[in-house]
Amino acid sequence: MIPIRKGLFRNKRRIHAFMDLSSACDIHCFHCWREAGPVEPMKVSRDQLGVLERDVFPFIENLSLSCVGEPLIVSLFPQALQAAKRAGVPYIRIQSNATHLDEEASGMLLDNGLTQLGVSMDAAHRESFNRIRAGADWDVVTENIKQFVRMRNERGRVDPEVSINFTLMQENCQEAVELFNVAKDLGVSSLSFHHMVVESEDTRHQNLCYDPALANKIYAQLRDESQKTGIAAYIPADLPDKIEPFSGSRIKDPVYHGVCRAAEGSWVFITPNGNCYPCLNLQGRGPLGNIYETPFSDIWYQDRNQSFRGKAIDNHCVNGCDNCKAVLDDNVKSELAFLAPRLTVEPLSSDGPVLPGESAASDGIPVGGVYAQS
Ligand SMILES: C[S@@+](CC[C@H](N)C(=O)[O-])C[C@H]1O[C@@H](n2cnc3c(N)ncnc32)[C@H](O)[C@@H]1O
Ligand code: SF4
Ligand code: SF4
Repeated sequence: MIPIRKGLFRNKRRIHAFMDLSSACDIHCFHCWREAGPVEPMKVSRDQLGVLERDVFPFIENLSLSCVGEPLIVSLFPQALQAAKRAGVPYIRIQSNATHLDEEASGMLLDNGLTQLGVSMDAAHRESFNRIRAGADWDVVTENIKQFVRMRNERGRVDPEVSINFTLMQENCQEAVELFNVAKDLGVSSLSFHHMVVESEDTRHQNLCYDPALANKIYAQLRDESQKTGIAAYIPADLPDKIEPFSGSRIKDPVYHGVCRAAEGSWVFITPNGNCYPCLNLQGRGPLGNIYETPFSDIWYQDRNQSFRGKAIDNHCVNGCDNCKAVLDDNVKSELAFLAPRLTVEPLSSDGPVLPGESAASDGIPVGGVYAQS
């Protein structure tokens, strides 16, 4: 089976693109992949934005215009949002730390076609927020969210929907349920609770997979509170009593057997330097191609991409992936789902395989950052 045919591609948008305009961020959340190693500085230029508008955006149904960096510190962001809108992308979301969501930024988002705003809080109290999201300030961020909601309502609008993100950890899990009160106070109608992915040994103890009973107790409280308050919430499915442990030996040629949302949902992850990957979790496996060198439709139709997706959809055989990550799939059985590939997979050597059965050089992009996917 060929999951995407040429005729359909030309006539119908169906791709979900995840991308950042820059790899930068101006704060330091201790659990973030950015804290686990050096981040290569990358930034989309004005000319490159022209390529995105002309060659890529016309094929995109659903655009996440920030995933692993901070969108509201990028000077080109308003132009990028306008370009995506001009190209007719029907659904555009961002995930932000909301530190720079001032009146001007809010007006810009509201007047240029954003569909959904995700704000990351990871805490329900001032003290824990300021500790976990070092460099951000609870008072600034909560006032910014309130102001955004007020400005949206004054325009007589219900969109962009605002959703608050909460990464569940030992550090903050006892206050997770209080996020419903925070949401009520801020006028926010949707919450999203996610597992944490371990990016370094320093944060391993924070992961709730090592205490399934505690995790499941908290999920039950969250489900109850969502029902009581009527605030919609994404809550992870209960964990099994025992999670299959990771052997500790790095995997050389990773292959995962299971459902792949990236393949089924026609995902592409594009780094600010233009490299494309089938999934955010495959950044360490070498790119499919670069949109500034090869037309996007050629990258999409090449055999590698089509056979990767075909195999994943038909046989549930996901080449290059060590395990679907707990932030992308609820059906968690293995510790591997909670560990970033940087901790579990042998790094590519210059002549090592990109996806099994292939050979190409790694581009040195750090393995990590499987977040902000919804
Ligand atoms: C990487 S940030 C990028 C967007 C923006 N800077 C923000 O904080 O919303 C996207 C989301 O990933 C979450 N995140 C960061 N590190 C994570 C980890 N190790 N596991 C799971 N989620 C993580 C953050 O809390 C945030 O909600
Ligand atoms: S989670 Fe977002 S705000 Fe925090 S350090 Fe990472 S990219 Fe920056
Ligand atoms: S983590 Fe692996 S299995 Fe999950 S969506 Fe990404 S490539 Fe597919």
